[in-house]
Amino acid sequence: MSTPLESVPASVIHLRSAGCSLLVLVDRTGLPRVRHWGADLGPQSAAGAAGLDVISDPHSRLPGEMPAGEVAVITDPTTGWFGRAGLKGSRHGRSWSTSFRTTSVELNEHPVTGFTEAGAGTLGVEAVDEEAALTLHLVIELLESGLVRLRATLTNDGTEFELGELSLNVPVPSQATEILDFGGRWGMERQAQRHEFTVGTHLREGRRGRTGLDAATVVHALEPGATFCTGEAWGIHVAWSGNHRHFAEHDSAGVRLLGGGELLLPGELRLATGQCYTTPWLYASYGVGLDAVAHRFHNYLRNRPHHVSSDRPVTLNVWEAVYFDHDPDRLIALADRAAEVGIERFVLDDGWFGARRDSRAGLGDWTVSPDVWPDGLHPLVKAVRSHGMQFGLWFEPEMVNLDSDLARAHPDWIMAARSVLPREQRSQHVLNLSIPECFSTVHDQLVAVIAEYEIDYLKWDHNRDHLEAGLQSAGGAPVEHAQTLAAYRLLDELKERFPALEIESCAAGGGRIDLGILERTDRVWVSDCIDPLERQRLMRWTGQLLPPELMGSHIGSPRSHTTGRTHDLSFRAATALFGHYGVEWDLDAATPEQLRELADWIALYKQHRGLINRGTVLRGPDPADDLWLHGVVAADRSEALYAVAAMAWGAASTPPRARLRGLDATRGYRLEPVHIGDADLGFAPPRWWDDRTAVVTGAALESVGVQLPNQPPEHSILIHVTAVG
Ligand code: GLA
Repeated sequence: MSTPLESVPASVIHLRSAGCSLLVLVDRTGLPRVRHWGADLGPQSAAGAAGLDVISDPHSRLPGEMPAGEVAVITDPTTGWFGRAGLKGSRHGRSWSTSFRTTSVELNEHPVTGFTEAGAGTLGVEAVDEEAALTLHLVIELLESGLVRLRATLTNDGTEFELGELSLNVPVPSQATEILDFGGRWGMERQAQRHEFTVGTHLREGRRGRTGLDAATVVHALEPGATFCTGEAWGIHVAWSGNHRHFAEHDSAGVRLLGGGELLLPGELRLATGQCYTTPWLYASYGVGLDAVAHRFHNYLRNRPHHVSSDRPVTLNVWEAVYFDHDPDRLIALADRAAEVGIERFVLDDGWFGARRDSRAGLGDWTVSPDVWPDGLHPLVKAVRSHGMQFGLWFEPEMVNLDSDLARAHPDWIMAARSVLPREQRSQHVLNLSIPECFSTVHDQLVAVIAEYEIDYLKWDHNRDHLEAGLQSAGGAPVEHAQTLAAYRLLDELKERFPALEIESCAAGGGRIDLGILERTDRVWVSDCIDPLERQRLMRWTGQLLPPELMGSHIGSPRSHTTGRTHDLSFRAATALFGHYGVEWDLDAATPEQLRELADWIALYKQHRGLINRGTVLRGPDPADDLWLHGVVAADRSEALYAVAAMAWGAASTPPRARLRGLDATRGYRLEPVHIGDADLGFAPPRWWDDRTAVVTGAALESVGVQLPNQPPEHSILIHVTAVG
């Protein structure tokens, strides 16, 4: 129901939830503006909200422009904003300068006027530009978790409109002077980069057709020196698994904003009359300290009805054990060995289908290879199930090798923008799932295999970037947008058909990690690098978006296949513990002692997985440059598990204390070091190490901390803390 244009008075809506406020101004002269997103302002009044009005500088801005500190959710140049335009598009060079007027405002589907205050809620705003013949429908939500999310739908009311960009944004205040986001590469995703928030645009564009190994993931604006537990922090994330952009913009007049949206290729979205386009969700998380920003993402994910249970099954993935060398007898022996150490899910990786004896052939032919598996996968599946384990299988549904029956039969289903195919990567090309016959062929093949073997778990891979993502039959017209939606639809249809099926999002490691894919998958593969030294950092930063139970975290071989470093089992196992636990190691090559120790680690995970998979994640403060402290605390603060990883040989001869955060200040806690296997400290430990009588208050543990023992480099210690009484 929309109200006539003239009768919409200004509305000020103040939403508050979980320590976060969102103050939105809506009047009929333009698009909604966010006046405040951040700390909870407490109850406000109409007069109070008016008192937060912002001053604009008449000398440097146009009348009605966007003043510093208050930002329209879609930036509009006609208001005198000279930064990036939120909406770009035209009708053959016309209708490019748009100016929207709000026509209706609803909170939780009820019209609102004047000043309104509520808890978590959904604002729906309708705005039109009659001259440009365009309508916008905006959704601005404050969720229970305190997470904000925004989305826009643009409807074309005129002749064909070519859309170039539709991005949303939120303001950050002038004290946000630093930027933190991530870069990365294969085996080294989510490398943090931090720098000054200078005038201009910090633009992070992903054109790889997937989220990307180098994805920005969360772009933060920070108070100077903000840490995991101090300093205000604002972070945004675009929930989209195809081409996308994030940006942090700071103009000369003082406006600072964070935003993003889908990245559209030239001519990709031509809206016919009546057609509409909906942006991905832009998520925005605020908190004091980076942990608080992460917690809102974690809480949001954990509150979803389909979120995984905390009872995550311990997994064995065979990739680094056998690679493409599939020998049924060997794999059955591996399943037996896995069951002995307590594994609960067995995942058969790449190499089981078509002519897939190496990476050069077979992708696209999703039928079990009779050369290697003369009796199908049945003997293996039977052995796995006889141990009470679940069975999982690897697929790469969007990909094809030229050497495959599928590519030979349908060469026109391969993405290409010119008369020649794009460059190969890992000997493979991308299938165009937006072609209905292609979609249904892949869909039917997957359904047949999943149904035949009653597969519990699917590892869904995506090993190459898209290049020249075009539809051959349409002269190479770009199809990234359609491809992302088709991949989502394929996942959704499988989930609907097999409701108990769990799906892992993998893309050459952690190349498809975003909240769009996580709406329809149940964990991610963080990285192909399982060297624990690298994994400490990888888990730290992937955890900025995801809680532990969604991060696939495996114990690899003694010598890392990626880096060549060698580590004791205790460091590999203690590092992997803070995720969805698994093993990726040829257990036939392990010694009996190693297998015994591995079984102890798996038992430890099972003992603590309820805590790890639902607890509040805490990172730092670092006790020293070379010592990395992190942990999980139960929601009721009755227990916690902390780890201190010695990332290098310590500089000080006496190690520092570790301050244990997150506990109840008034309660007493007993400390217990967790000893498994080969962790040999080699030095005299502090007294509490062997003293089970000491009870220390949460307040003391947080402000004074516990004395750490001397640790050898590239080893972790674990401390389990339990409330007494
Ligand atoms: C990607 C994945 C690996 C493995 C291989 C199989 O690299 O990240 O875990 O599944 O593909 O080809």
